Amino acid sequence: MKSLSLNVDHVATLREARKDNMPDPVTAALMAEKFGVNGITVHLREDRRHIHDRDVEIISKLIKTDLNLEMAAVDEMLKIAYNIRPKMVTLVPEKREEITTEGGLDIIIKKDYLTDFIKNLHNSNILVSLFIDPDIDMVKQAHKVNADIVELHTGAYSNAISDKDQYKELLKIVDASRTATKLGMEVHAGHGINYHNIAPLAQIKDIEEFAIGHSIISHSIFVGLEKAVKDMLKLINI
Ligand code: PXP
Repeated sequence: MKSLSLNVDHVATLREARKDNMPDPVTAALMAEKFGVNGITVHLREDRRHIHDRDVEIISKLIKTDLNLEMAAVDEMLKIAYNIRPKMVTLVPEKREEITTEGGLDIIIKKDYLTDFIKNLHNSNILVSLFIDPDIDMVKQAHKVNADIVELHTGAYSNAISDKDQYKELLKIVDASRTATKLGMEVHAGHGINYHNIAPLAQIKDIEEFAIGHSIISHSIFVGLEKAVKDMLKLINI
């Protein structure tokens, strides 16, 4: 069985459009658990543009499934991770001007820094996932810095216009997944995954978890969160 971790940032984005208290990402997380998701993902960005510290604190206390805290590899976030103690942290590159996480982490230029950063998280019994492009060399680098998990960036696959390009991107994900499994790391995938493009990804046996947000939250506006979550769960474990 493959898992689904629902990213509730997009609920907070809607809340922040009015700087109000609704819709509430905490409520979304708790309801999504009831509807069968296996985990909740939140990205606490340095500019706090959607998820706030308080959301992370409350979600971490109330959910019964696994919390995946996405964050930049910076000291401020390390301290927050120490306090929150999520099951897993996913380290992502972060640029203030981007709309969403644009590319995977460049492990090579930050190798020593990331090795120490990951060691600190391990010392607090937090699993570490690195969000990387589906590239065999980058997977090997993730292994070298002692990542437990790689989350393969599916953005290029999801954004491909032609079937040929999409297939090329799919093969990169297949190869990167296989390499990660061989090296003993768990494989997750996420970014831009929707109800129309999930099927080929769901066939990749090495992928254990999908981190999906935008498509599910968007669909839920029209059909409700229960149907939006259950429709995706069906497609993931077809
Ligand atoms: N995984 C990571 C590391 C992300 O940054 C995002 C986007 O917030 C997702 C998964 C989910 O992407 P989407 O919202 O496009 O499903």
